[in-house]
Amino acid sequence: MKPVAAAFPTARFRRVRQSPALRGLVRETLLSSDDLIWPVFVREGKGEVEPVASMPGVFRRSVDKIAEAAREAYDLGVSAICIFPYTPLEARTEDCAEAWNPDNIANRAIRAVKEAVPEMAVMTDVALDPYNINGHDGFVVDGQIVNDRTVEALVKMTLAQAEAGADIIGPSDMMDGRIGAMRGALESEGHQNVTILSYSAKYASAYYGPFRDAVGASGALTGDKKTYQMDVANSDEAMRLIQRDLNEGADMVMVKPGTPYLDICRRAKDMFGVPTFAYQVSGEYAMIKAAAQNGWIDGEKIMMESLIGFKRAGCDGVLTYFAPEAARILNT
Ligand code: PBG
Repeated sequence: MKPVAAAFPTARFRRVRQSPALRGLVRETLLSSDDLIWPVFVREGKGEVEPVASMPGVFRRSVDKIAEAAREAYDLGVSAICIFPYTPLEARTEDCAEAWNPDNIANRAIRAVKEAVPEMAVMTDVALDPYNINGHDGFVVDGQIVNDRTVEALVKMTLAQAEAGADIIGPSDMMDGRIGAMRGALESEGHQNVTILSYSAKYASAYYGPFRDAVGASGALTGDKKTYQMDVANSDEAMRLIQRDLNEGADMVMVKPGTPYLDICRRAKDMFGVPTFAYQVSGEYAMIKAAAQNGWIDGEKIMMESLIGFKRAGCDGVLTYFAPEAARILNT
């Protein structure tokens, strides 16, 4: 970018800020409901809509209610949804077999949404934590999270999701070699058109706390995820991970969490120019909601400001629990 040459009063930056019309003309980024992916939590039962205490306005819904909510969100303009399971405790085991059960709660939800709203893109989560007795994203052997055996399980999970009708596979596990293995399996099993949005730069963040409550993994988790999720202090490493995942067959990449990592989003977009997403995670959502409920901030305005921030940082889209709420404001 060239520096501005003219000095005051030749240059008056306030000239183009003086009216909504002028501000609109010079606005650099736009947020549209097309940019939003809505993460939702699915639970067992029928007709169930259960609030998540640490995430006001977020619910665990049974499959029938997920399908209904997907329809409503789509009608508001949200065209993508991401399904996370709240697995019953008895289905969580050391071998995580429920993860690739074609009829597990997540796969049933994928089918129900594709049936109710075929136009909606359905994204999944690939990681063992909702099915693992110890809350980790990979198998635990002698206290270690093992990589290669976990990748084999993640591939089975991916294929079950693709067979259920998923459009976007979302590996959030941070194992090495998973993208290549998933891409290979999708190609050889007739799922060439299934896309992968890799959680490439996923940090070992404290912002995931409310999510772990939502999927019932908080109590279960032993230790932390620092041997597989990224050190929060690193940036070059994020670029290497994104490059690696693109080389292995990811169609889109993600940075997670969102707002505290906008520098990573911008750097990734500038360096690779590929479809880049951020995940505005549960802790970010909870902080905005809690402050708004206390009357300390204007929740709606902060929601919109936080979302445009992702676009300004170079993201093509954002996963956000605010998706339907924001879409309503954007489209009415
Ligand atoms: C688990 C997973 C997590 C999130 C998405 N997938 C939590 C974790 O890694 O512990 C977090 C999402 C959020 O906080 O909103 N594989």
